[in-house]
Amino acid sequence: MSTQTKITALIGFGTVGQGFYHYLTANNEDKKLATVVIKNASKSRIPDTLNFTTDVSEVYQNKEINTVVELISDDKEAFNIVKKALQQGKSVVSANKKMIAHHLEELVELEKQFGGKFLYEGAVAGSIPIIKIINEHYAFDEITEIRGILNGTSNYILTQLFDKEIGYDEALQQAQEAGFAEAEPSADVEGYDALYKSLILTAHAFGKFILPEKALHIGINNLKKSDLAFAKANHLKIKLVASIKNHNHKLTLSVLPTFVDENDNLFHVKNEYNAIEVVSNNIGSQFYKGKGAGKLPTGHVVFTDYKSLKEAKYTYRNIASGKRIKYEPNQNIWVYSDKITLLEKYLEEVVLINGSQGYGRLKIAYLIKAKELINIHHVSIIALSLADFADLRRNYLRKSAKSARK
Ligand SMILES: NC(=O)c1ccc[n+]([C@@H]2O[C@H](COP(=O)([O-])OP(=O)(O)OC[C@H]3O[C@@H](n4cnc5c(N)ncnc54)[C@H](OP(=O)(O)O)[C@@H]3O)[C@@H](O)[C@H]2O)c1
Repeated sequence: MSTQTKITALIGFGTVGQGFYHYLTANNEDKKLATVVIKNASKSRIPDTLNFTTDVSEVYQNKEINTVVELISDDKEAFNIVKKALQQGKSVVSANKKMIAHHLEELVELEKQFGGKFLYEGAVAGSIPIIKIINEHYAFDEITEIRGILNGTSNYILTQLFDKEIGYDEALQQAQEAGFAEAEPSADVEGYDALYKSLILTAHAFGKFILPEKALHIGINNLKKSDLAFAKANHLKIKLVASIKNHNHKLTLSVLPTFVDENDNLFHVKNEYNAIEVVSNNIGSQFYKGKGAGKLPTGHVVFTDYKSLKEAKYTYRNIASGKRIKYEPNQNIWVYSDKITLLEKYLEEVVLINGSQGYGRLKIAYLIKAKELINIHHVSIIALSLADFADLRRNYLRKSAKSARK
């Protein structure tokens, strides 16, 4: 690869594929593009002069193609393509977080075995080069915690909910009309997308490959106007927060709507922006913020991967130390809910506020088990830190005492 000229196949010519192509032409690299694989032959394309095909086998048969840029929306087909390309020793750039979160361990093995490189910065947090930051900037430090807003669609909807005081359905519809949410939004609003990204970061920062089925993700789709009102009354916001912590070699991971106060950097992240706080032993806390998606921001990171294929390679250096870290879904957390009593059998402790509304302490593993119940009954679940819990309880007791005095 190092002395060879790059001959490239681009698979997918949608939002990100066209963004990547923009940088390819802007940097006079388009002559290296041998073929563009798409699904629907009858769609009109700009430019229409590229070598479009619907037959991906042309990529495997053409031995001159040594680089594959995979940017399709079908994760199962993406896995087939990436796997075959790596098995042929081709280098691959991808942005498909769902496919990568499900198959990363196997793909890393194929990279090692057949010698093609595999880079995927575009899969996590849009324009923030967080995989590079973890691998290079933190190469001589130990990361203890990563928390962040990793899904722009959910953050856009939450921003509208707080700023315009509208309901969830209306905010989702507005996000769809503004192009920030897809017609089928479940991957974003149910927290899957943020989970996939969290799992990719977990592999790099903590050397652990955890499958999506084993981890907790609760989205913003069950939040009610009353939850927003409760947050506002207590000077808080709700953000969809991905949290990964390594404490004494015990790793906890969750994607949850979470109360944040104004001292928290995440409180101030608005609309489609993503943000990540990395905490490490020597550096302390650092905060990164940027556009989480879109044609040109994502196309740019994909093109940067493409340009760096010659010299860059993920080291996965934490896999050795990751063997000492145990994934711990039995960790307890505090959550707020409008119907906390529905989770009664899972709770270790409960503090009721009003009727079924209140706080509960329970294991992350139990929240994973309770997912179906939560969705059937549209139960709102919002995580809170111990400090926030103490503040909220104090506020509540103060208010109760005041109304009792009246
Ligand atoms: N959009 C973003 O901002 C963003 C950000 C980060 C990561 N990503 C990831 O980037 C990837 C592409 O996303 P996108 O937003 O660009 O999607 P998109 O706009 O829906 O475009 C998808 C492209 O994939 C092609 N395609 C779908 N199934 C195919 C198949 N089986 N074989 C060949 N081509 C197929 C489509 O072909 P036709 O044109 O013929 O329909 C289309 O060109 C996804 O993995 C996504 O998760 C997207």
